[in-house]
Amino acid sequence: SDYWVVVPAAGAGKRMGANTPKQYLPIDGKPLIAHTLENILSWPGLKGVVVAISADDEVFATLECAQDDKIQTVIGGAERADSVLAALEYLSQHQSPTTSVLVHDAARPLVSTDDIHKLLSAAPMALLAQPASDTVKLAGAESCVRQTLPREQIWLAQTPQKAPLGTLLQALQRGLDENPKAITDEASALELAGHAPELVAACRSNFKITHPSDLVLAEALLRHRSGGASS
Ligand code: CTP
Ligand code: MG
Repeated sequence: SDYWVVVPAAGAGKRMGANTPKQYLPIDGKPLIAHTLENILSWPGLKGVVVAISADDEVFATLECAQDDKIQTVIGGAERADSVLAALEYLSQHQSPTTSVLVHDAARPLVSTDDIHKLLSAAPMALLAQPASDTVKLAGAESCVRQTLPREQIWLAQTPQKAPLGTLLQALQRGLDENPKAITDEASALELAGHAPELVAACRSNFKITHPSDLVLAEALLRHRSGGASS
């Protein structure tokens, strides 16, 4: 059950509103992406990592973890899906289509090893996701509630998302060709190709660092962990 990991890390971090892309902001004295990559390098069965960075990135190559033999880079694209596609196209030159791939956001440093084990033993196509904890409203005109959705059926998609390399590459290529706006994660491309990836409930620490307050929370959780307490 060997697998490769693809890490999209070519975003600008607009919602964070910082001068630097969020993946390079420090958390507990180390760039966010270094936390994520060090976490990934500890996963069992990992063959290698392909990180998609932006064309004008001058920081990645200077990181200590970038020197690791298991880590390679490609140039990403305008949208997250373009960055993932670039990494998958690179991988497919060296790996068989049946190779299992886990796509994981650079901005999720706190995914737990327990959840990685659950994902690895799930169906060949599977993703970590968060069961909705709030009541979910569908908005109609002028931000007024149109409907309350059945919460038991609502999951928020996270990463890693797992699929065989060849299947995912084909689904993404086709999805980006036919309906690029609809491809906001790997599962959405697989769904359009007729697959039904398995949802695997993730623990709440697997949030994506998006807004400034997420940095504060992540730092607190990472310090708590390195203090030897359980996650
Ligand atoms: N990403 C990428 N290539 C892009 C856009 C995003 O590789 N063209 C990556 C980001 O670096 C991040 C992950 O995809 O690790 C999830 O995207 P998101 O959280 O939206 O990050 P940003 O796009 O950087 O943030 P924002 O949307 O606020 O600008
Ligand atoms: Mg984005």
